[in-house]
Amino acid sequence: MTPAAISLSGEIQELVTLADAGRLDSEDPLRSLRSRFRIPPGLVYLCGNSLGPLPLVAASRAREVIERQWAEDLIRSWNVHDWFGLPERIGARVARLIGAQPHEVVIADSTSINLFKVVKAALGLRPGRHTILSEYGNFPTNAYVLQGVARDSAGQTRSRAVAREKILASMDADTAVVVLTHVHYRDAAAFDIDAITSAAHAMGALVVWDLSHSVGAMPLDLNAADADFAIGCTYKYLNGGPGSPAFIFAAGRHHDALDPGLCGWWGHRAPFDLVEDYQPAPGMRRMLTGTASILALATLDAALEVFDGIDLAQVRAKSTRLTSAFVDLVQAKCVGFGIDVASPMDSRGRGSHVALRHPQAYSVMQALIARHVVGDFRAPDVMRFGFSPLYNGYRDVWDTVENLVTVLGGEEWRRPEFISRGRVT
Ligand SMILES: Cc1ncc(COP(=O)(O)O)c(C=O)c1O
Repeated sequence: MTPAAISLSGEIQELVTLADAGRLDSEDPLRSLRSRFRIPPGLVYLCGNSLGPLPLVAASRAREVIERQWAEDLIRSWNVHDWFGLPERIGARVARLIGAQPHEVVIADSTSINLFKVVKAALGLRPGRHTILSEYGNFPTNAYVLQGVARDSAGQTRSRAVAREKILASMDADTAVVVLTHVHYRDAAAFDIDAITSAAHAMGALVVWDLSHSVGAMPLDLNAADADFAIGCTYKYLNGGPGSPAFIFAAGRHHDALDPGLCGWWGHRAPFDLVEDYQPAPGMRRMLTGTASILALATLDAALEVFDGIDLAQVRAKSTRLTSAFVDLVQAKCVGFGIDVASPMDSRGRGSHVALRHPQAYSVMQALIARHVVGDFRAPDVMRFGFSPLYNGYRDVWDTVENLVTVLGGEEWRRPEFISRGRVT
């Protein structure tokens, strides 16, 4: 076995041979969790940062909810199975993962819609300030929602996006709310939640964190950071299923004054009084809008059981070891193939996926997928490889780099079937 060496990234290079991969997997304290997911045999699945795989418990819960609750108990299920309480009950599960109090989180709608609601709520808490500050190049839905809020404000609010290095310097006395994604969707670069939040507070502004690419992959402590608002997807590292509903966090200190701007009957103080005028429900319940998808909530609830008893510090430790091993192997084996590591080299500033840049990234990824290594592509030239510590291992890292070397070295990506693009890329 080759002795461990220091890699270009300055971290210990642990994965040098195939035997290392086997040893590291056998020593992995989280290894048994993989058996809780249904992952097709032989597949290296590295898209958990986009759509997590199916937890077995979610499949059985979905069957139970369809066959018993829906089919047999029908409308009584709203009370008998407390369907109405699911947004708060599941919110409490997510709260543990993000360092919030159970009553500070609810599940509702999509991340895009929740962003709208928390931004409107934040603007309402900062009257007299007119700017929403965000990062240029963030996930497009975030930009679109903020632009929409500004357009709809009759000139009262403007949306200003700046390069990430300029965020701190761009906060001023007109900044009402800073909206940032903790871990960037493209390159996995991570912001320092504590530092940005305290800088914004010092300037009198509030902060909204999009935790879509960090929740479930690392410990988060929103209360310790004195965070104001957060939102995020549950279908990525939380494995809630395609399009599973998103979460919203608001710090308890803001609850009494929250106005989500998008008000529906599920957020009313007394929804079944069916009165004419809106009165907000106390606490986070007012952030709900209309009838939630119970099937989606129920499967998400079950999927989150996989996190019961799991130490997120251990999850993060494995995540950084996996991504570092991947970066090191790519650097060692892909020299001369036109590959650049687009993610931060220092694992402390990186989320749980690694972005590689290549001029033919789309075709290279298609060739990898044909070899049963599933990552994804982000235009124009990025391949993303997501490593979820719950089910990915060091052998996945090894196999991915071996296949990448074959695809690049043999120019397999030039084959015509790897060039045409589907509707979803
Ligand atoms: C940072 C971020 N925010 C939001 C979303 C998606 O939001 P929605 O679930 O509303 O489509 C994504 C999707 O990948 C994302 O990466």
